[in-house]
Amino acid sequence: MNKIYLTIIIVLIVNTLFSQSLVTIALESKDYALVLQADENKRLGTVYFGKKLAQKTEYAIAAQQYDYSDNNAGIYNNAYTPSGTWSMIEPALQVTHADGNISTELLYISHENQVIDKNVKLINVLLQDPVYKTTVELFYKIYHNENVFEQWCEIKNGEKGTVVLNKYASTNLYFSNSEFHLTHYNGTWAREMKPETEVLTAGIKTLDSKLGARTNLYQPPTFMLELDGKASEQHGKVLLSNLAWSGNFKFDFEKDSYGNLRLIAGANPYNAAYELKPNESFKTPALIYSYSENGKGTASRQMHRWAKNYRVPDGNGSRLTLLNNWEATYFDFDENKIVELFQGAKKLGVDMFLLDDGWFGNKYPRNGDNAGLGDWQENRKKLPHGLGYLVKEATAAGIKFGIWVEPEMVNPKSELYENHLDWVIRQDKRPEHYFRNQLVLDLSNPEVQDFVYEVLDSIFTKNPEIAFVKWDCNAVIYNAHSDYLEKMKLPQTHLYVDYVNGLYKVLDRIRKKYPKVPMMLCSGGGGRVDYGSLKYFTEFWLSDNTDPLERVFLQWDYSHFYPAITLCAHVTNWDKKATIKYRTDVAMMGKLGFDIVVDELSQPDLVYCQNAIRNYDNIKNIIWQGDLFRLVSPYENPYASLMFVDEKKERAVMFNYLVANRFDFTYSYQPILLRGLDSSKNYKVKEINIHPDVPSTFENDKIYSGDFLMKVGLNPNITLVRESVVMEIQEVN
Ligand code: GLA
Repeated sequence: MNKIYLTIIIVLIVNTLFSQSLVTIALESKDYALVLQADENKRLGTVYFGKKLAQKTEYAIAAQQYDYSDNNAGIYNNAYTPSGTWSMIEPALQVTHADGNISTELLYISHENQVIDKNVKLINVLLQDPVYKTTVELFYKIYHNENVFEQWCEIKNGEKGTVVLNKYASTNLYFSNSEFHLTHYNGTWAREMKPETEVLTAGIKTLDSKLGARTNLYQPPTFMLELDGKASEQHGKVLLSNLAWSGNFKFDFEKDSYGNLRLIAGANPYNAAYELKPNESFKTPALIYSYSENGKGTASRQMHRWAKNYRVPDGNGSRLTLLNNWEATYFDFDENKIVELFQGAKKLGVDMFLLDDGWFGNKYPRNGDNAGLGDWQENRKKLPHGLGYLVKEATAAGIKFGIWVEPEMVNPKSELYENHLDWVIRQDKRPEHYFRNQLVLDLSNPEVQDFVYEVLDSIFTKNPEIAFVKWDCNAVIYNAHSDYLEKMKLPQTHLYVDYVNGLYKVLDRIRKKYPKVPMMLCSGGGGRVDYGSLKYFTEFWLSDNTDPLERVFLQWDYSHFYPAITLCAHVTNWDKKATIKYRTDVAMMGKLGFDIVVDELSQPDLVYCQNAIRNYDNIKNIIWQGDLFRLVSPYENPYASLMFVDEKKERAVMFNYLVANRFDFTYSYQPILLRGLDSSKNYKVKEINIHPDVPSTFENDKIYSGDFLMKVGLNPNITLVRESVVMEIQEVN
């Protein structure tokens, strides 16, 4: 008996000592840790992902608690799974070596910790093939307070000849949990970001897009993963993630024999094998993820803070409210009509007028979406005095002036197409195929990059007062083929990656010269947003669908990943039956704009809008810089409710929207529990945005404790008549 015990104890001690001697890399944020460990063969695996341990030394022995024999698969938890040797599962990396061999092994060589600042650290781990001198360096950037991880890698050809990367994921994660709910978002024009949730089962679930440009039109590189069962806003394990890449992507979620989840995410290898000459490196895009064990709300707020602090230009700054003329005029305008609309902007009280599509092209005037795209000279008939005149008139009217461009694209009916056919992505031997009557320019070509840069640069140089740019991108890439790559004797399979990197090069140059100009990312709606593009754009257009009811859902879903300051929301006439109040109240939960003819508003509607814009000016900083709490989901209830609270918990704003119109319970018969306030403070609650025709039924200016508002709650009196209710909540001493 004693002998057996002794043997067990000795085995345990030896095991522990052995584990302690293995290289263990604990990547810790404020609350969580991702732990990597090199095994006795120096293969690197993920041994823990979850709450931080109190004793760091115990990370080293975490792997001992699992007894997995993976002989049929390799190592499921590999931190970057190679292919062609011992691993039989979905790889992160597939390489054809210089000698044609397709096998790769990756062993741990070293790692480094760098402190970037008080909040950010960067850890890089070097892996190398023992036979071929190709290396992979894994990078983990950790944003401590935000619990956000940013992960990418660099693959370097250390061989004597050309190496081909057939697959090059950014991330290979491993989750040892029990039930995985994956929410992904599909879409098409005006139906972007439609959520679907499924419980993952054995095998591989793939999310991808192959659209080239505006990939999100089919599917955004964004997902939510709930671990160990369903999470709620306040409870449960949630990972919110986005690939910072504005091109094709692929996410593989593979549930292995043990019920654990492997995630391999990165740029899509579809038709995209990438050649590296000796000593050349390939940097993958980064996967960004926010993790929380306290529900979706916290995960979102972490992501928002990260985005505002580290990614979106002027994330903690301000934005311009605006009047856009797209739905008001479409292509049918001239300078007089536009100057008249300036008065509408002034009357409303917005900061800026945004001139949309249709202002350019002479040989082929841009009077519809079938001509002129690419010819960025003012149309002399519509704008005989040029943009400069409009800027001057806007300034005289006391508003700023912004402009629409779509510089990556071309109509075949254009001078650009006639003069530079070799700049267009197309197949000479095949008929052209159009998306919205247009084709995509080949941004892998440095001359095209210069052209796109100059479109913007010349607009700004001639009109330095231009205060805003809406950058559109309406077509997908059909017939992917680059004359430039052919001329340079580079593989055509570089196009998808080089297009996106070419675009980023242009945007880098623009941002270097014009760091402050607010720029809206648009893509025939929301077909492009991700945290790669949001490095350059201050905000984005979610969808051409501006039906306010649809927007309640759309903005709700986008709000999981992106902060309100980036979500452009315009009041339009898409749904003429909706009241101006409902339309405006919905748009106010993002970055407010209008796209209407102001003179067509009835007097009470105009008074309501003017008042709402004044209110917005007063509360916008709470929306833009505060914390978001999603209170009642429109997916599960006849109304939606959400609120923003400022950092000091002194001010808050609560938005409530009816989303159903059946008689049964389509009113708020119960109070809604508020969140994020200080329970020891007292708050005055006041209904704002009251339409002159619909007086408030709410007892205004009553004082409640934060404790009461968060435990008993508040009833905003949503009814079929009061379909949207906005509350301002202010601390009183
Ligand atoms: C896209 C945009 C719209 C508008 C038009 C102009 O569809 O999403 O907002 O700018 O282009 O052609």
